[in-house]
Amino acid sequence: MSLIEMQKVTKDYHLGETVVHALRGIDMQIDQKEFVAVWGPSGSGKTTLLNLIGAIDDPTSGELTIAGKNVRLLSDDQKSEHRNETIGFIFQGFNLVPVLSALENVMLPLQIKGASSAEARKQAMMRLEEVGISDLAHNRPAKMSGGQQQRVSIARALVNNPSLVIADEPTANLDSETARMVIDIMRELNEKDGITFIFSTHDQRLLNKVRRLVRLEDGKIVNAVENT
Ligand SMILES: Nc1ncnc2c1ncn2[C@@H]1O[C@H](COP(=O)(O)OP(=O)(O)O)[C@@H](O)[C@H]1O
Ligand SMILES: [Mg+2]
Repeated sequence: MSLIEMQKVTKDYHLGETVVHALRGIDMQIDQKEFVAVWGPSGSGKTTLLNLIGAIDDPTSGELTIAGKNVRLLSDDQKSEHRNETIGFIFQGFNLVPVLSALENVMLPLQIKGASSAEARKQAMMRLEEVGISDLAHNRPAKMSGGQQQRVSIARALVNNPSLVIADEPTANLDSETARMVIDIMRELNEKDGITFIFSTHDQRLLNKVRRLVRLEDGKIVNAVENT
């Protein structure tokens, strides 16, 4: 069974009188343990596509199945439960809480789920070690570089043991060397832990190590290739 299956998926946005056809019939399948890059220019529909995969938003038409469940048939509560249990999110702007330390930021999703402080601290520290910045655990985000902040947010995305991590332009605010490092960390986690990763980018330079590429243009997949 595929993790994600999309058939003829569309998404329209209504802006007053006008309709924006953000996705125009997407057919796509993503299996467990894949590492997939969605790339395309600004406005091509990358964020819209990732929001559908993350069950943050609903398709206008077509079929979307996530882990065998038709999202159309899920209630809002079921969708948020599904998100909390199986998906980790990484954002372009890092979205860390500024008044919390790196460690406290990573602990937060566990504490929201009701874990004890001690348990949350232990798990969060493990994840910070995994992304190589446990020495900065007690720093606040403002004291960290963009690359370090993005590593904290990778650790945070992983702390609930998701089977899928969705990263929407995770490298957009980073210089190219740091961007490459972030992609490399995600790839290592994909290979080591078998976590499925889907990330979007408009930067073609990041794609040479990515096996599966989905090219979006004007809301359509124009090219899907498997690098060898
Ligand atoms: N909430 C929204 N309301 C109206 N139009 C939107 C909204 N979100 C995105 N769009 C439009 O949908 C298209 C795809 O946007 P988006 O998915 O954000 O593309 P990308 O992430 O590739 O830049 C664009 O034309 C954008 O202006
Ligand atoms: Mg976007």
